[in-house]
Amino acid sequence: MDKIVVEGGVPLRGSVDVSGAKNAALPIVAAALLAEGDHVVRNVPDLADVRTLGRLLGHMGCTAERSAGDRRAVGIRVPRAVTPEAPYELVKTMRASVVVLGPLVARWGRARVSLPGGCAIGARPIDQHLKGLAALGAEIRLEHGYVEASAPRGRLRGAVFTFDGQTVTGTENVMMAAALAEGRTVLRNCAREPEVADLAKALVRMGARIEGAGTDELRIEGVQSLRPLDHTVIPDRIEAGTFLVAGALPGNDVIVRGGVAEHLEALVEKLRAVGAEVAPVPGGLRVVGDGRPRPVDVRTAPHPGFPTDMQAQLMVLLCLADGSSKITETVFENRFMHVQELQRLGADIAVDGKTAVVKGVPALSGAPVMASDLRASAALVLAGLAASGTTEVQRVYHLDRGYERIEEKLAPLGARIRRAKA
Ligand code: EPZ
Repeated sequence: MDKIVVEGGVPLRGSVDVSGAKNAALPIVAAALLAEGDHVVRNVPDLADVRTLGRLLGHMGCTAERSAGDRRAVGIRVPRAVTPEAPYELVKTMRASVVVLGPLVARWGRARVSLPGGCAIGARPIDQHLKGLAALGAEIRLEHGYVEASAPRGRLRGAVFTFDGQTVTGTENVMMAAALAEGRTVLRNCAREPEVADLAKALVRMGARIEGAGTDELRIEGVQSLRPLDHTVIPDRIEAGTFLVAGALPGNDVIVRGGVAEHLEALVEKLRAVGAEVAPVPGGLRVVGDGRPRPVDVRTAPHPGFPTDMQAQLMVLLCLADGSSKITETVFENRFMHVQELQRLGADIAVDGKTAVVKGVPALSGAPVMASDLRASAALVLAGLAASGTTEVQRVYHLDRGYERIEEKLAPLGARIRRAKA
């Protein structure tokens, strides 16, 4: 098992490139299950979660391989018949595997998918996924930890469905299923995340008829069949956001290349509020951490609100602010696991239910810390960069699920960071 070792207190300078978006690549690769043939998905990050999905498709009888000519492209071959099953062994390592459910039941008329279960940040039920598929006529049974779904007449049928709460993968699952359903579907209170809109774009490339991508209402005219996919995934706004926070740490000056400014508005607004300079430059955004940050209050929310996946990283910046900030986490019920680790670095944070009050301190000091989940681990790396002395981040397998060798991206900025055996 690896750890990341950071010698902090070195100013960061230079530019860093953003990879393709994990949370767009996963549902888009799964969408290949909707059509027999050879698909290509481009700008796919080389991450543990993507490899897990590749293994899952392999288990179903598909092949998913990086193409020799372009290492950022994944070629997926979907045969005439697949084994429509996602076993617990694979799903337990990556909850997002649940996005194969909609495509399987819509395309193959049945699916057996392990229930993902909870994770460090929350219970994360999939009731909305199942309610949406049931609205399209799927028969759903939960047995032995599996969702058994089937389309009684061999094909789902269009319907009007309103999600009780906005769910990213829930919207993705039901949208993919509706693409092959008979008739018209209207989905309301949908998630508006850029990754959902990118999936809708990919489905339209396959021949789907979808209107309203990026809004909270999707109108889908089901088609009889779809054609193989060739799509380039959007840049990862959360990876871009993580690097923007790194650049906003006091004394840093970083250009983040490849992020889509429109996808980062809520974060950039907060970075400017703390006093960082954020300006568009050709091909990216330049961020300068000008002195001690100012305190701000933040409330996470579904897109276009402040992303919950940036909450931990922004907390690091606010740990150094000249005053107190309030962070309210409204999306997940248990997403402050990084707080006790930041306290080990000398941060002053008090958590009360959904709210953390962060009293800024003049400086952090390095220490060994433990990652609990993907974004918490990124925050601990950022804290190590800002802290004096050495920080060792354990359990970086969390980090590798969503960041492509982050130490190799930060080192050219001058960061003294390396991977080592734990
Ligand atoms: C997606 O997870 C992302 N993952 C998460 O990113 C991200 O944090 C989350 O959206 C919110 O933006 C992927 O896209 C693979 P939700 P998802 O369904 O779809 C509740 C990362 O760090 N809910 O939008 O699982 C749920 O419990 C990861 O890259 C139900 O109650 O999140 C949560 O409180 C972490 N019933 C809220 O809704 C349901 O059926 C939002 O969850 C579905 C969700």
